[in-house]
Amino acid sequence: MEQYVIKGGSSLVGEVEIGGAKNAALAILAAATMADEPVLIENMPDVRDTNVLLDAIKSIGAYVERIDRHTVKINGSTINDLIVENEYIKKIRASYYLVGALLGKYRNVEVALPGGCNIGSRPVDLHLKGFKALGAQAGLSHGRIYARAEKLKGGHIYMDVVSVGATINVMMAAALADGQTIVENAAKEPHVVDVANFLNSMGANIKGAGTDTIRIRGVERLHKTEYSVIPDQIEAGTFMFAAAATKGDVTVKNVIPKHLDSICSKLMEIGCEVIESDDAVRVVASKPLTHTHVKTLAYPGFPTDMQPQIAVTLALSSGTSIVTESIFENRFKYVDELAKMGAEIKVEGNTAIIEGVEKYTGAHINAPDLRAGAALVIAGMAAEGFTVVDDIVYIERGYEDFDVKLKGLGAQIEKVSGEREIQKFKLRVS
Ligand code: UD1
Repeated sequence: MEQYVIKGGSSLVGEVEIGGAKNAALAILAAATMADEPVLIENMPDVRDTNVLLDAIKSIGAYVERIDRHTVKINGSTINDLIVENEYIKKIRASYYLVGALLGKYRNVEVALPGGCNIGSRPVDLHLKGFKALGAQAGLSHGRIYARAEKLKGGHIYMDVVSVGATINVMMAAALADGQTIVENAAKEPHVVDVANFLNSMGANIKGAGTDTIRIRGVERLHKTEYSVIPDQIEAGTFMFAAAATKGDVTVKNVIPKHLDSICSKLMEIGCEVIESDDAVRVVASKPLTHTHVKTLAYPGFPTDMQPQIAVTLALSSGTSIVTESIFENRFKYVDELAKMGAEIKVEGNTAIIEGVEKYTGAHINAPDLRAGAALVIAGMAAEGFTVVDDIVYIERGYEDFDVKLKGLGAQIEKVSGEREIQKFKLRVS
């Protein structure tokens, strides 16, 4: 098992380059299979989830060529299997995007049921509702999601809950349906817009992405394109809170500041200075930080994927903070780990009540999921002494070179495996 060992206590200072958005890239990779011509995707993050999806796309016969670490060419013309089932695909949530993509293109698909991070029950009822509204038969059977249709017809879909995944999935299938589809109460996340822009660059006709009503006029086929994935809002936000928690001064580069508004606003509220420029944001935490209240919401609200990172920071800020998780019900699993480092947090239902402490002390902890794992690494960097984070495989699902980027900001962190390597690191940095 790979682990991070961290010697905490120093401020992060410097600049860090943000990569392509994992959650946009996953949907875009699936959508790329919908053309029978070469599609070039740039600014692709090289993380475990995108690599697993690429393997799955290859396993159904599509042509996949890695041009360089962040550029991939996909051609869906050679797809010869409409059952997506390999050992790894069940582990990634975004495998469900192949349902929308292949239902749209071939009118028939089965994909092994998505797994993903263990942050609560992750239903797919809205995805199924959307496919059915397009005239498909869709459901769950023997651990797979299936969807098939003689004809896909545009339909009118109202999403009872705002869902990023269901919005994107329906948008993909509807792009190749007959007639017009209207999705109401659609998710407005930046990656919904990015996927719509990508599909439009392949010849789709999608209007309104980024608002709560998306109109999709089906086209006959999609064609080749070249496209660059938007920067990762959550990776950027993670480094911004790492700056705050370590009383540092970090500039995240290659970002779209507009996508970071809710994050910047909370950082300013707790006492950080935030300086925006065209494609960078600098966070300076030179004053003592103070408490606030935050509730996770769909975009443009505060992202659920940033909830553990802000909580770890608030637990080091003076006063009582309240964090309410309104998207996923099981997203406070890091609290017990953080308590081992001295945090004072009480969870009641979907609310965490945080009494700020002066400092964390290093401990041996476990990454329970992707974003919580990253948040615990932040805690380790802010802590006095050594911290070991187990199960970093979760973190590697969504952060490219996390340790390398942190080292670039002055962190003392090393990827290790086992006690011997931990001791070696401790000797070297002591
Ligand atoms: C995506 C992101 C994830 C992020 C989440 C919310 C990917 C691969 N993952 O997940 O990182 O945390 O958006 O921004 O892009 N729901 C239903 N029925 C459904 C689908 C969802 O009730 O059929 C509910 C969920 O339980 C949750 C809410 O809708 O309470 C939002 O989930 P959703 O936006 O769908 O999350 P994902 O797309 O799975």
